[in-house]
Amino acid sequence: MKPRRIRPFSAALMAFGLCVGCGDGTDWPAMGATAENFAPEVLVLGRAVYGDSCATCHGKDGSGAFGPDLRGKGHKYTYDQHRRIIERGKRSMPGFGASLTRQEIEAVVAHVRVGLFEHHDG
Ligand code: HEC
Repeated sequence: MKPRRIRPFSAALMAFGLCVGCGDGTDWPAMGATAENFAPEVLVLGRAVYGDSCATCHGKDGSGAFGPDLRGKGHKYTYDQHRRIIERGKRSMPGFGASLTRQEIEAVVAHVRVGLFEHHDG
Protein backbone atom coordinates (compact mmCIF):
# COMPACT_ATOMS: atom_id res chain seq x y z
CA MET A 1 0.00 0.00 0.00
CA LYS A 2 1.33 3.48 -0.86
CA PRO A 3 2.27 5.27 2.34
CA ARG A 4 0.35 8.51 1.75
CA ARG A 5 -2.86 6.88 0.66
CA ILE A 6 -5.75 7.45 3.04
CA ARG A 7 -7.53 4.20 3.62
CA PRO A 8 -11.29 4.31 2.97
CA PHE A 9 -12.06 3.37 6.56
CA SER A 10 -10.06 6.30 7.96
CA ALA A 11 -11.55 8.60 5.36
CA ALA A 12 -15.04 7.54 6.40
CA LEU A 13 -14.23 8.20 10.06
CA MET A 14 -12.91 11.65 9.22
CA ALA A 15 -15.89 12.43 7.03
CA PHE A 16 -18.24 11.72 9.90
CA GLY A 17 -16.03 13.56 12.36
CA LEU A 18 -15.61 10.46 14.47
CA CYS A 19 -12.60 9.76 16.56
CA VAL A 20 -12.35 6.78 18.84
CA GLY A 21 -11.83 8.11 22.35
CA CYS A 22 -12.56 11.70 21.36
CA GLY A 23 -15.63 13.88 21.69
CA ASP A 24 -18.11 13.84 18.83
CA GLY A 25 -17.87 17.57 18.20
CA THR A 26 -21.41 18.32 19.41
CA ASP A 27 -21.74 21.04 22.05
CA TRP A 28 -23.96 18.94 24.31
CA PRO A 29 -23.70 21.21 27.39
CA ALA A 30 -25.16 24.08 25.35
CA MET A 31 -28.25 21.97 24.68
CA GLY A 32 -29.17 22.12 28.34
CA ALA A 33 -31.80 20.14 30.19
CA THR A 34 -34.36 17.96 28.45
CA ALA A 35 -37.99 19.09 28.50
CA GLU A 36 -38.86 16.36 30.98
CA ASN A 37 -40.46 17.24 34.30
CA PHE A 38 -39.36 15.48 37.44
CA ALA A 39 -40.84 16.03 40.87
CA PRO A 40 -38.76 18.34 43.08
CA GLU A 41 -38.15 15.60 45.67
CA VAL A 42 -36.82 13.31 42.91
CA LEU A 43 -34.35 16.01 41.88
CA VAL A 44 -33.30 16.59 45.48
CA LEU A 45 -32.60 12.87 45.94
CA GLY A 46 -30.85 12.76 42.55
CA ARG A 47 -28.51 15.58 43.53
CA ALA A 48 -27.56 13.73 46.72
CA VAL A 49 -27.00 10.38 44.95
CA TYR A 50 -24.96 12.15 42.29
CA GLY A 51 -22.76 13.82 44.90
CA ASP A 52 -22.15 10.48 46.63
CA SER A 53 -21.68 8.18 43.65
CA CYS A 54 -20.84 10.15 40.51
CA ALA A 55 -19.19 13.48 41.28
CA THR A 56 -15.73 12.03 41.91
CA CYS A 57 -15.51 10.87 38.30
CA HIS A 58 -17.79 13.32 36.51
CA GLY A 59 -17.27 16.52 38.53
CA LYS A 60 -19.67 18.10 41.00
CA ASP A 61 -21.26 20.14 38.21
CA GLY A 62 -21.16 17.26 35.71
CA SER A 63 -18.55 18.93 33.53
CA GLY A 64 -16.29 15.89 33.61
CA ALA A 65 -13.06 14.73 35.23
CA PHE A 66 -11.94 11.09 34.87
CA GLY A 67 -15.31 10.45 33.20
CA PRO A 68 -16.84 12.54 30.41
CA ASP A 69 -18.92 15.72 30.65
CA LEU A 70 -22.49 14.63 31.33
CA ARG A 71 -24.21 17.96 30.68
CA GLY A 72 -26.81 17.95 27.93
CA LYS A 73 -26.42 14.24 27.23
CA GLY A 74 -30.16 13.90 27.72
CA HIS A 75 -30.26 15.00 24.09
CA LYS A 76 -27.85 12.26 23.05
CA TYR A 77 -29.45 9.42 25.01
CA THR A 78 -33.09 8.56 25.56
CA TYR A 79 -34.22 8.20 29.15
CA ASP A 80 -33.94 4.41 28.87
CA GLN A 81 -30.48 4.51 27.31
CA HIS A 82 -29.28 6.86 30.03
CA ARG A 83 -30.72 4.64 32.70
CA ARG A 84 -29.12 1.54 31.19
CA ILE A 85 -25.63 3.13 31.16
CA ILE A 86 -25.99 4.04 34.83
CA GLU A 87 -27.36 0.62 35.81
CA ARG A 88 -24.93 -1.48 33.81
CA GLY A 89 -21.90 0.80 33.49
CA LYS A 90 -19.85 1.38 30.38
CA ARG A 91 -16.24 0.22 29.92
CA SER A 92 -14.27 1.84 32.79
CA MET A 93 -17.44 3.10 34.45
CA PRO A 94 -18.91 0.72 37.03
CA GLY A 95 -22.62 -0.14 36.95
CA PHE A 96 -24.83 1.02 39.80
CA GLY A 97 -27.75 -1.36 39.30
CA ALA A 98 -26.66 -3.48 42.26
CA SER A 99 -25.58 -0.75 44.67
CA LEU A 100 -28.36 1.83 44.26
CA THR A 101 -32.08 1.28 44.75
CA ARG A 102 -34.48 1.68 41.84
CA GLN A 103 -35.60 4.99 43.36
CA GLU A 104 -32.02 6.23 43.60
CA ILE A 105 -31.28 5.18 40.00
CA GLU A 106 -34.36 7.02 38.74
CA ALA A 107 -33.41 10.08 40.77
CA VAL A 108 -29.85 10.19 39.46
CA VAL A 109 -31.07 9.75 35.87
CA ALA A 110 -33.36 12.75 36.48
CA HIS A 111 -30.38 14.64 37.88
CA VAL A 112 -28.15 14.12 34.84
CA ARG A 113 -30.99 14.93 32.40
CA VAL A 114 -32.44 17.98 34.19
CA GLY A 115 -31.08 18.53 37.71
CA LEU A 116 -27.56 19.39 36.58
CA PHE A 117 -28.97 22.56 35.06
CA GLU A 118 -30.86 23.67 38.15
CA HIS A 119 -28.90 25.82 40.51
CA HIS A 120 -29.57 25.86 44.17
CA ASP A 121 -27.89 27.78 46.92
CA GLY A 122 -25.25 25.86 48.80
C1 HEC B 1 -15.07 5.34 38.57
C2 HEC B 1 -15.45 6.52 37.85
C3 HEC B 1 -16.91 6.69 37.49
C4 HEC B 1 -17.99 6.77 38.34
C5 HEC B 1 -17.99 6.61 39.86
C6 HEC B 1 -19.13 7.05 37.52
N1 HEC B 1 -18.77 7.13 36.20
FE1 HEC B 1 -19.99 7.53 34.64
N2 HEC B 1 -18.46 7.23 33.35
C7 HEC B 1 -17.15 7.01 33.72
C8 HEC B 1 -16.35 6.83 32.51
C9 HEC B 1 -14.86 6.57 32.46
C10 HEC B 1 -17.23 6.94 31.42
C11 HEC B 1 -16.90 6.78 29.93
C12 HEC B 1 -17.22 5.35 29.55
C13 HEC B 1 -16.81 5.09 28.11
O1 HEC B 1 -17.57 5.46 27.21
O2 HEC B 1 -15.72 4.54 27.94
C14 HEC B 1 -18.55 7.21 31.99
C15 HEC B 1 -19.69 7.41 31.24
C16 HEC B 1 -20.91 7.82 31.76
C17 HEC B 1 -22.07 8.17 30.97
C18 HEC B 1 -22.13 8.21 29.44
C19 HEC B 1 -21.61 9.57 29.02
C20 HEC B 1 -21.49 9.72 27.53
O3 HEC B 1 -21.30 10.85 27.09
O4 HEC B 1 -21.54 8.73 26.80
C21 HEC B 1 -23.05 8.53 31.84
C22 HEC B 1 -24.46 9.01 31.50
C23 HEC B 1 -22.52 8.38 33.16
N3 HEC B 1 -21.21 7.95 33.08
C24 HEC B 1 -23.22 8.65 34.32
C25 HEC B 1 -22.76 8.36 35.60
C26 HEC B 1 -23.56 8.47 36.80
C27 HEC B 1 -24.97 9.01 36.85
C28 HEC B 1 -22.78 8.04 37.82
C29 HEC B 1 -23.17 7.88 39.27
C30 HEC B 1 -24.31 7.04 39.57
C31 HEC B 1 -21.48 7.69 37.27
N4 HEC B 1 -21.51 7.88 35.92
C32 HEC B 1 -20.40 7.24 38.01
C33 HEC B 1 -16.66 6.93 34.99
C34 HEC B 1 -17.42 6.92 36.14
